Amino acid sequence: MSLPFPILTAQEAAELIQHNQTIGFSGFTPAGAAKAIPAALAERAKREHAAGREFKVGVLTGASTGRSLDGALAQAEAISFRTPYQSDATLRKQINTGQVKFVDMHLSLLPQIVRYGFLGPVHWAVVEAADITPGGGIVLSTSVGAANTYLRLADKILIELNAKHPASLLGMHDIFEPADPPARQEIPVYSPSDRIGSPICVVDPKKIAGVVMTDLEDETGAFDESTPVTDQIGQNVSDFLVAEMRAGRIPPQFLPLQSGVGNIANAVLGALGRSKEVPAFEMYTEVLQDSVVPLLESGRCTFASTCALTLSPDMMRNVTSNIGFFKSRILMRPQEISNHPEIVRRLGIVSMNTAIEVDLGGNVNSTHVMGKTMMNGIGGSGDFTRNAYLSIFSCPSTAKGGKISAIVPLASHMDHSEHSVQIVITEQGVADLRGRDPHDRAQLIINNCTHPDYREQLRDYLKLTKEGHEPLSLSLSLAMHRQFLRHGDMRGINWEEYR
Ligand code: COA
Repeated sequence: MSLPFPILTAQEAAELIQHNQTIGFSGFTPAGAAKAIPAALAERAKREHAAGREFKVGVLTGASTGRSLDGALAQAEAISFRTPYQSDATLRKQINTGQVKFVDMHLSLLPQIVRYGFLGPVHWAVVEAADITPGGGIVLSTSVGAANTYLRLADKILIELNAKHPASLLGMHDIFEPADPPARQEIPVYSPSDRIGSPICVVDPKKIAGVVMTDLEDETGAFDESTPVTDQIGQNVSDFLVAEMRAGRIPPQFLPLQSGVGNIANAVLGALGRSKEVPAFEMYTEVLQDSVVPLLESGRCTFASTCALTLSPDMMRNVTSNIGFFKSRILMRPQEISNHPEIVRRLGIVSMNTAIEVDLGGNVNSTHVMGKTMMNGIGGSGDFTRNAYLSIFSCPSTAKGGKISAIVPLASHMDHSEHSVQIVITEQGVADLRGRDPHDRAQLIINNCTHPDYREQLRDYLKLTKEGHEPLSLSLSLAMHRQFLRHGDMRGINWEEYR
């Protein structure tokens, strides 16, 4: 089929973008991220810089992306502003040195914040597609993210038509964008498999400035091997959910699961998949990883609503070679819908996310090491946690070979407050904080989740903070962090030294 749009090289497309413009890229994780145009844009930025000219752009995406987008643009020092989430090592450094302005945002909120104009105009939408029609119908590829919103709002559009993603992905997306207040109505998703929108994005064809033909795999990284610690965390989560079901607090047909990304999420899903007691379950989540595909094949997971198919190339080939089977079991939604608080609360999602540190009150830091250094961002964890039926945070009880305790008196940065965090799980065990006052919570977290190397020193801290509703000492609450900065190890603290 011939297309009535200019067919451009990635370099020609990159030449159309000007310094200081804002670009809304497709991509939610490396899945479905634009690749050829941002890589060419990075090369252009390097040339401009070499010629002594400024060249930086504002970068909006769905979430993290791949090496050709965040990686290449960061290495070219071509990013001025970035939101809502990232996980690239070079970009992270630039954010932490102040070279790039980064706004860490709840992923569900981003599309409406862009629509409301809070971030200024979007000059370009640069979006990867699996197919495109002459009339401006676009079949997105392996994620939706915020691409639907960027396509609608941007002044001009560039499409990467990627031959690696078959046109038969048509039907896997469900594109729905709520009206803005005061006209907004309910979002009619009553079960994870409900379709409420269109399988394609439709844009004004006049806005399409060009199409770039590509043949590029998603740049999905490999996971680390599971470890005894991550396996134990997975088992603890699974055992906890089984106990909840036995107690009648999770209905016998189970509740839809949201699971974060990474090894712990994989271990949790693995343990739930193996459990003889957990019935076949549905997922309402934002990222679908390799571990879910065999669960869909075996029937352990009956349906997965997601925002992205973050699959390894081999697993993606497995899905596309059996696309009919998976199309009836997977739906990709915009992040505004996959993470929407209204739906998360209505469906009774069990949310399972990972913490950097958890404090004795049950507050969680998911983003900033030692309160200062940005890791990735809050991502969707807040969207789900705040509204979940059961909100679970898990993490290893220590980091950096035991020198850092993940359980601290006070979180050095707070993403999820004690009002939203219900269950804390480490390889040591489970602290069920529901209905517990701050002093009881602290005891439970120390007794059940803390590494043995840190239990006594945290008990000593509690003895020093008996008064008041919260076990807090303004002078001591960050002493374990200060101890690490002074001595490179949080263990062996002398509380008197910090009074
Ligand atoms: N202090 C210092 N560093 C810590 C730490 C702590 N308390 N806890 C973890 N880390 C470090 C680890 O050592 C590791 O560092 P390395 O990369 O240098 O080895 C890094 O943080 C990642 O930790 P890891 O244990 O490998 O877990 P992870 O890859 O699952 O990442 C988060 C954990 C919290 C960083 C990650 O889950 C995240 O970014 N979450 C926020 C977004 C989110 O929850 N999204 C979910 C919705 S899909």
